[in-house]
Amino acid sequence: MGLLEGKSIAMTGGGGGLGRCYGVAMARAGASVAVADIDLAAAEATVAAIRSVGGRAIAVHTDVTQAAQFERLLDRTEAELGPLDVLVNIAGMFPRRALVDMEEAEWDAVISLNLKSVYLGARAAIRRMLPRGRGVVLSTASGTGIRGQPKGSAYSASKAGIIGFTRAVSLELKDSGVRINCFGPGATDTPLWRVGKTEDEIKRLLAAGFVYQPDDFSNVVVFLAADLSAPLNGEFISRDLHR
Ligand SMILES: NC(=O)c1ccc[n+]([C@@H]2O[C@H](COP(=O)([O-])OP(=O)(O)OC[C@H]3O[C@@H](n4cnc5c(N)ncnc54)[C@H](O)[C@@H]3O)[C@@H](O)[C@H]2O)c1
Repeated sequence: MGLLEGKSIAMTGGGGGLGRCYGVAMARAGASVAVADIDLAAAEATVAAIRSVGGRAIAVHTDVTQAAQFERLLDRTEAELGPLDVLVNIAGMFPRRALVDMEEAEWDAVISLNLKSVYLGARAAIRRMLPRGRGVVLSTASGTGIRGQPKGSAYSASKAGIIGFTRAVSLELKDSGVRINCFGPGATDTPLWRVGKTEDEIKRLLAAGFVYQPDDFSNVVVFLAADLSAPLNGEFISRDLHR
């Protein structure tokens, strides 16, 4: 039996580089997955990948910065896949921009997508999970939230925010049966990682072994979603934190 047998999971940013791999891994472990993305075609491609390995999935067009759309995602997940067991927040963006060049609108967009969406999703999911006394919320933070990165002030702030948010909410959830954690997969070759890099730079970083492949961290996400990781609440599970 798979580690996630019978679980109903909603995953945001599910059409992206990491979302596609994590969705397939969670489905292989037995979960049914609602794949949410603002890019419906990308979400549908992930659903096709999940079905190709015999898994169960639906695509749900969702803008995670909108509270009502998050509620609709969870409504559809519960109606079609069963009561929500796990929410995985993956949607995010990383525009590389020096602080002195960053306009307020871009700062707001990064914080809204990367951090506010985690608050909206966690609140909506936990409201449903608490009366049942079970459930897991996972969010994609980043080691950048601890280390910082040039041209990444808004991104680093949003990811540090996710870590602090996760710790605070975990204390509110103590002894409830519901838990919340976040993770940092390390620099990984996806469209988000390639933003602002030249082809030469990408080649050099790949050749130097600096960057991971999107599927490398999938089993860690499966573990964090599974009951096997029940002792973990409020944690930030990351690799390369000190690199
Ligand atoms: N790739 C890395 O190196 C890396 C490292 C650490 C953390 N992360 C984090 O992992 C997550 C996924 O990143 P990725 O590398 O797979 O990026 P990606 O660009 O491949 O995927 C991001 C997905 O989010 C979706 N999205 C964007 N705006 C949305 C919205 N408003 N509502 C719903 N979906 C929306 C996009 O359509 C896309 O499918 C991000 O939170 C990122 O910060 C990535």
